[in-house]
Amino acid sequence: MYFYGTFPEDFTWGVSSSAYQVEGGWDADGKGPSIWDNFTHVPGNIKNNDTGDIACDSYNKVEEDIYLLRALGVKNYAFSLSWSRIFPSGRNNSINSHGVDYYNRLIDGLVANNITPIVTLYHWDLPQALQDIGGWESSALIDLFDSFADFCFQTFGDRVKFWITFNEPQVIAWFGYGAGTFPPNVNDPGSAPYRVAHILLKAHARVYHTYDDKYRASQGGVIALCPNIDWVEPKTPSDPRDIEAADRYLQFLVGWFTHPIFKNGDYPDVMKWKVGNRSELQNLPSSRLPVFTAEEREYIRGTADVFCFNTYTSKIVTHATTRLRPFSYVYDQEVLTKVDSSWPSSAITDHRAVAWGLRRLLNWIKEEYGNPPIYIIENGVGIKTKSDIDDNTRIFYYKTYVDEALKAYKLDGVNLRGYNAWSFMDTFEWLNGYDPRFGLHQVDFDNPNRPRTPKRSAVYYAEIIRNNETKSDDQTTCVCFHAHLSSQRNCFSLWSAKKHSFCITK
Ligand code: BGC
Repeated sequence: MYFYGTFPEDFTWGVSSSAYQVEGGWDADGKGPSIWDNFTHVPGNIKNNDTGDIACDSYNKVEEDIYLLRALGVKNYAFSLSWSRIFPSGRNNSINSHGVDYYNRLIDGLVANNITPIVTLYHWDLPQALQDIGGWESSALIDLFDSFADFCFQTFGDRVKFWITFNEPQVIAWFGYGAGTFPPNVNDPGSAPYRVAHILLKAHARVYHTYDDKYRASQGGVIALCPNIDWVEPKTPSDPRDIEAADRYLQFLVGWFTHPIFKNGDYPDVMKWKVGNRSELQNLPSSRLPVFTAEEREYIRGTADVFCFNTYTSKIVTHATTRLRPFSYVYDQEVLTKVDSSWPSSAITDHRAVAWGLRRLLNWIKEEYGNPPIYIIENGVGIKTKSDIDDNTRIFYYKTYVDEALKAYKLDGVNLRGYNAWSFMDTFEWLNGYDPRFGLHQVDFDNPNRPRTPKRSAVYYAEIIRNNETKSDDQTTCVCFHAHLSSQRNCFSLWSAKKHSFCITK
């Protein structure tokens, strides 16, 4: 059932993007190469051999992008900084002033238009020069990331008051170093993800403390990290083993990073037990999950001011007895996941529109971490089509997800402070190239000017923002999904039956 009501006055609505996915200008004005530049340049790595070389050309379109953000009426814009655009070699002995100018223009433009910048320091595009010394497997990266962050706080922090260290650290650890499908393509599923996560947590904590020690007093911002979270529903809710499996899945996926930060500086007990026991059965001398010292735990605990996360879908989980070899972070979880085939599918495998999962997930965060202030930084749906200006499926997605977020806030007392749609515009969608479209704006990637066109979902989202609420029935117009049901009459009767229709405000 839809629930109608108003979000709090200071609720922050926004849209999100990331540097490699929108900027282009991959080697412009002295930018250094990143691991994604090099990876996409190898034929066969990306669908249709697409690259982010030009992407949406946002590097050259600051004014246009800000114009579109104003038209949407967003209160914030979340984007990421390309580390190698600022430090071409990854180190602060090589500062690229053109890169700094670009971000200054963007930030100044946003601030001048009352749009709060939410800035992510790392959305996967590591400078190649730092990969060459071992990437996130090397603890040298802790200092180097801190020195990059320090420069960004010093340079942009007078205007940027909301910082995110890592976008989806689990993706960095698992896809980059476990499954190996993302650069740097390390295929070591049993150990490297845990070692990398250990370093990422230390790097995050270091940067948090730098902000705290040197900048917080004068700049007064907040800083967090941003995991991605799929809600998981136990397959048989009456079976305690499935309930435990669902919790275990969330602990391995999210708690891996947020338990140390929001709880006690250490990994969730269930991770320590599972990985520890399995390592013993695998005849290893010690657990594949590294151990923090008491001092490190103290240093990591409490290093986030707010709880940020991205979410796209839900899954069904059941407990499972998994094989011991090959060693793997996935087998360590002793779960099996699947999706319900009745859930609406999308362009991304296993991304299904399951809006009620968002409300449950928000409640889980509230219960698990003591109701911190929560920001949804990415939420949206990918559709495989070049032109989806009439993107009714996306409108339905946003209508239902925003509504479930509202229920969590109003009915369940979740401390939800913001919601960002992914994405601002169609972007380079990693391994899938330009095939799946997530944007509120269509980008014509065949046209060298990369023109942007607002989709119907952009108009719909702007309406939600303007009203700061979901509208009641009598203020809405229903639209039918199926052409053959499109007579007004049929549509309204279907809407009353809450089927096959969605509503937009008049
Ligand atoms: C990532 C985005 C990506 C989106 C859709 C998120 O996990 O942060 O960069 O575009 O998923 O696949």
